[in-house]
Amino acid sequence: SFGDYTTIVVFGASGDLAKKKTFPALFGLFREGHLPKTIQIIGYARSKLEDDDFKDRISKNFKGATEETKKEFLSLVSYISDPYDTDEGYIKLRKACESYEEKHGVKNPHRLFYLALPPSVFTVVCKQLKKEVYAGETRIIVEKPFGHDLESARALQRDLAPLFTEEELYRIDHYLGKEMVKNLLVLRFGNTMFSGIWNKSNIASIQISFKEAFGTEGRGGYFDSIGIVRDVMQNHLLQVLTLLTMDRPVSFDPEAVRDEKVKILKAIEPIDTEDLLLGQYTKSEDGTKPGYLDDDTVKPDSKCVTYAALGLSISNERWDGVPIVLRAGKALDESKVEIRIQFKPVAKGMFKEIQRNELVIRIQPNEAIYLKINSKIPGISTETSLTELDLTYSTRYSKDFWIPEAYEALIRDCYLGNHSNFVRDDELDESWKLFTPLLKHIESSENDIPLVKYAYGSKGPDHLRKYLEKHNYVFDEPG
Ligand code: BG6
Repeated sequence: SFGDYTTIVVFGASGDLAKKKTFPALFGLFREGHLPKTIQIIGYARSKLEDDDFKDRISKNFKGATEETKKEFLSLVSYISDPYDTDEGYIKLRKACESYEEKHGVKNPHRLFYLALPPSVFTVVCKQLKKEVYAGETRIIVEKPFGHDLESARALQRDLAPLFTEEELYRIDHYLGKEMVKNLLVLRFGNTMFSGIWNKSNIASIQISFKEAFGTEGRGGYFDSIGIVRDVMQNHLLQVLTLLTMDRPVSFDPEAVRDEKVKILKAIEPIDTEDLLLGQYTKSEDGTKPGYLDDDTVKPDSKCVTYAALGLSISNERWDGVPIVLRAGKALDESKVEIRIQFKPVAKGMFKEIQRNELVIRIQPNEAIYLKINSKIPGISTETSLTELDLTYSTRYSKDFWIPEAYEALIRDCYLGNHSNFVRDDELDESWKLFTPLLKHIESSENDIPLVKYAYGSKGPDHLRKYLEKHNYVFDEPG
């Protein structure tokens, strides 16, 4: 792992991602004692800012520490403002690294570059970095978008491959840093009772759902060319699905884990474009929240998808025939991300009516795992009812338990040199192979895709219940 004397450089340091995620995560790690007090951190961006203004900007989102700790952290930070495509800034950066390393007698430099950059400058920064600043042991964290489709993702990969090895690259999908997502392999493979039943003989349907209670306000211009499928499904939800369905890796070794992820991705059938539920939100029923098209920054007749449900199937021995639904939507009634695994019905006979078991893994908010089981109503009753074995983190674990934010967990992994929770090149390629035909189908102007309207703040398109029932999901409550 990287030692006490490491330089961390954040490119795109004046941008939103750096302000909201990267720097608060670095700070959180520092606060918790997971980053040495001897490192140096350099922000690099085009915006002209004085060091102090820069520090004010990034520290707005720092949480849970005394002023002293903040000051201590900020004393490790400096800022370079220069263009991305000329040499000067990179030469300054190299000198800053070298003088720090010299001062501390570092023979083999450790440099970590965090690229919080838009795609337009991504490649040029990588080239300059390689030319001017690359030395010793280097790690590079890169952020999505990794391309817009299979072709552009491969082009990007071709640009990067001659510059950095796969070993040096850490592709972030921040869902892999979420506590409950990291728990999936333990839950599945560390419990005989789950590992034994995790297959088509016992599981009737799987759902992974992502709901956000806010729309694209303020970033509609960005979202309009992306859409919900590319924004969260091709990456975040698919990653969750691979961890949920892959076979047992031989160990926690990063390559062993990622080998299994690639295998399962390859076994997913092409997405059936006839079996989609796509929607776009309109203004809220009370008129207080704007519809997607009310945003001035989006095309007036935009067909951008803000809600999608799609069916997947995996054609291997474990999963053949099990319906899987991924669904994601913006501007819904709540913010929640969860996995629902419904088990096959028990044989009737003894019971006239009995519900299915269901395992729910709530990724956020308020992490929880609960298992719906049938149990006899206590007392003289002979009736059964559906109840829950409930592991809700906030009631089970003390408040003092520090659960790192996704970005904190991932930066720490990178610092330790652990690739497990980063996306490998072949994994990325497979995910684009799967989603590119679907995206092309949705975005091709010849296909007049039916886009269901749903109101901001609602549960989503009305047809959702029917759609899920079609995919073998049974509701507890009659609809
Ligand atoms: C990002 C998407 O990758 O993930 C956003 O671009 C989305 O549109 C976000 O809001 C969701 O992340 P989280 O951690 O808030 O669930």
